[in-house]
Amino acid sequence: MVIHSEFLDALTPSSLRSITAKIRDKAKRGETVVSFAGGLPSPEFFPVDDLRRINEQILLEEGGEAIQYAASDGYDPLRMYLVEFMKRYQVTDISYKNILITSGAQQGLAYLAKGLVTPGSVVITENPSYPGALDTFRGYGAEVVGVKMDEDGMDMDELERALETHRNAAFIYTIADFQNPMGISMSVPRRKRLVELAEKYDTFVVEDGPYSLISFDGRVMPAIKSFDTYGRVIYSGSTSKTIAPGLRIGWLIADEESIQKLVYLKMRDDLQVNNMAQRQVLRYFRDCGFDEHLRQVTDVYRSRRDTMLRAVRESFPQGTRLVVPGGGLFLWAELPEGMDTLEMFDYVFQKNIAYVPGAFFCPDGSGRNAMRLNFSTSSEEKIARYIPILGEMICSFGGQKSAS
Ligand SMILES: Cc1ncc(COP(=O)(O)O)c(C=O)c1O
Repeated sequence: MVIHSEFLDALTPSSLRSITAKIRDKAKRGETVVSFAGGLPSPEFFPVDDLRRINEQILLEEGGEAIQYAASDGYDPLRMYLVEFMKRYQVTDISYKNILITSGAQQGLAYLAKGLVTPGSVVITENPSYPGALDTFRGYGAEVVGVKMDEDGMDMDELERALETHRNAAFIYTIADFQNPMGISMSVPRRKRLVELAEKYDTFVVEDGPYSLISFDGRVMPAIKSFDTYGRVIYSGSTSKTIAPGLRIGWLIADEESIQKLVYLKMRDDLQVNNMAQRQVLRYFRDCGFDEHLRQVTDVYRSRRDTMLRAVRESFPQGTRLVVPGGGLFLWAELPEGMDTLEMFDYVFQKNIAYVPGAFFCPDGSGRNAMRLNFSTSSEEKIARYIPILGEMICSFGGQKSAS
C-alpha cells in the first residue's frame, strides 16, 4: 500500500529540482550538461582547507559536546555572533533571543509557511520569485499571488491593491536584495512603505536575504527589518550563497515571542540544527577572514556577470530585454514576446545546455518568454563559449538575431 493523504497526494516535484534531476540522469549516462540553471555558488570558493582545520579544532577543543544533542533555538555563541553580523544590514536592536538557527533559509521559509498558512490563505510574492519558496508556500495550502516588479523592486501600489483584495494575506514574501531571479534590489522608500503596508493590512513581511552580501559594488542595503518599528518583519538569512550550501545553516530574526513559537515548531520537527555545522560556521565567520573571502567571490562573480552580459547581448534575439544585476547569482533575460522558453527547454537540453524557464518563477504562469541564467558557477571561458551556442539555438527556435 502506498502512503496517501490529501496533503501528500497534492505534492508535486519541486520545479527547480526536477531540472537538477534531469542533469543528474544525463551525468549517469556519461553526458555533461553545461548548466546555467542552478542557484549554486561556485565550489572553487568553498573553504575546504579552512573547514578541515576548523573541524579538527572543534573536535580537539570541544570534544563530544560538538556532536551531542543541542538546543532547538541554536548554538548560543553563533546566535550572539549573528547579532553583530546583522549590523551590516543596519539591524541593530536585536539580541540573540531574536534569532532562531535553521537548517538553511529554506527551513525557515517552511516553518513560516507551516505556522502562518492555513489552506486557502494567500501569500503575496514578487512576480517573478524564487520557485523553492513558491513550492513551499503552496505545499502548505497557500494561494500565491504575485506582484509585478520594476527597477526599484516590488510595485507598492499593486501590492496595496493585492492587500485590499486579499484581506487574509498570511504574509508578503520578498527577496529585497539582488532578487532571485531578477537581480533587482528594492529601494529604501519602498522598504519603508512595505513595513507601513504590513501594519495597515495587519500582515507580516518575510524578508529573505541570501544574496544581500553578494554585492558587486560592495554596498549593502539596510534590511527591511531595520525599518520595522511594529514587529511585522521576519528576516531570513543564510550562509548557503556566501560560504557553502551543504552546511545548511540559516537563521530567522523576529521578536522573542515569535521566535519562541517557531522553536516549539522546531522541537516537533527536527529537534535542532546540525550542531557541528553551527560551530563550523561560527569559527569560519569569526576566524577565517570572511570579508576577504566575500571580496574574492564577488570580484569573480562580477567578471562572470559581465562576460555573460556581453555574450547574451551579442547572441540573443533582437528585442531581448536584460536586467543588469547589481549582485547575486543570476541574469534574467526576457526574449521577444511570443517566444516560449518552456517549449524551448528540451530542444536546448538535448544539446546539453540548461537554463531555468521563466514560467517557473511566475505565480500567475506568465514569464513564458523569459529565462534565468546563472553566472556564478561557470568560468568566463565556459560562459563565452556556450552562451553564444544557447543564443544560436534560441534564434533557430524562432527568434531573429542580435539582442538590444
Ligand atoms: C531566495 C532564496 N531563498 C532561499 C534559498 C534557499 O537557501 P538555503 O540553502 O539557505 O536553504 C534560495 C536558494 O536558492 C534562494 O534563492
